Amino acid sequence: MEANRVVVVTGGASGIGLGVVRLFARKGHPVAMLDLQDEALERESAALQSEGARVLARRVDVSDRDDVETAYSAIRSELGPIAIVVANAGISEGVRFLDVDQPTWQRMIDINLTGVFHTVQAALPDMVAAKWGRVITISSHAAQSGASDRAHYSAAKGGVIGLTRALAREFAADGITVNTIPPSVVATPMAEQGVAAGTFPPLDVIAQHIPIPRPGTPEDIAAACEYLASDGASYVTGQVLAVNGGMFIG
Ligand SMILES: NC(=O)c1ccc[n+]([C@@H]2O[C@H](COP(=O)([O-])OP(=O)(O)OC[C@H]3O[C@@H](n4cnc5c(N)ncnc54)[C@H](O)[C@@H]3O)[C@@H](O)[C@H]2O)c1
Repeated sequence: MEANRVVVVTGGASGIGLGVVRLFARKGHPVAMLDLQDEALERESAALQSEGARVLARRVDVSDRDDVETAYSAIRSELGPIAIVVANAGISEGVRFLDVDQPTWQRMIDINLTGVFHTVQAALPDMVAAKWGRVITISSHAAQSGASDRAHYSAAKGGVIGLTRALAREFAADGITVNTIPPSVVATPMAEQGVAAGTFPPLDVIAQHIPIPRPGTPEDIAAACEYLASDGASYVTGQVLAVNGGMFIG
């Protein structure tokens, strides 16, 4: 893969997103890491820059279109046109369905689904102009098999899968592929917070129910992103690539 292609990763300061940022940055790509966490953005971008990587860190709320557009203008002027987008930013929380009030529902949709809409739609003109692009969304096992106390999360992630498939068809003739990765259990701060809150079982307990008996790592997901972003994956679009140790096979 050409190493000069500009990569945007949302939620790039933690967990899966940080794993994706590190992989592409260390392979020589200019990478923009967008997130809400100022301190982590600063720390992680400085660490990669000290290794010689070309990394731009910006505070962005993906549910805010103006924020996304402003960051993209900076990315275009400092790094160049956007070629690869990994729409990964998201939140998760355990709430019984009967307790999901309208603001709770709306916030989940705004970040986990509308955030992907903003992130991807605002980048696509660069890819259409280049006649080459890669869009990778991070959805979830919860959209494939459901998750108790996560109906709002499951619905938003189901929307991400539908959006991914529709865009794959709409932009196929433009040299742009659009695929989604639905992780099951990945050891990240999000998963650890769920365990601490008692809304997610301990990871070593869940691991006993995974055919490959360990939680996934951000590196597992990043490796799949690298494949989907490669020239070798130019005939792969609209796919749900489950990187999950066999937890869900469908
Ligand atoms: N960890 C898992 O087991 C698992 C399983 C299935 C799906 N996922 C999905 O993977 C993605 C990454 O999750 P993770 O486990 O790395 O979580 P994480 O909490 O470690 O990282 C998510 C990052 O997204 C950022 N973020 C949240 N809201 C944002 C917003 N509005 N704008 C910009 N950035 C925002 C957070 O600040 C954080 O840095 C999420 O979409 C999540 O739903 C994770």
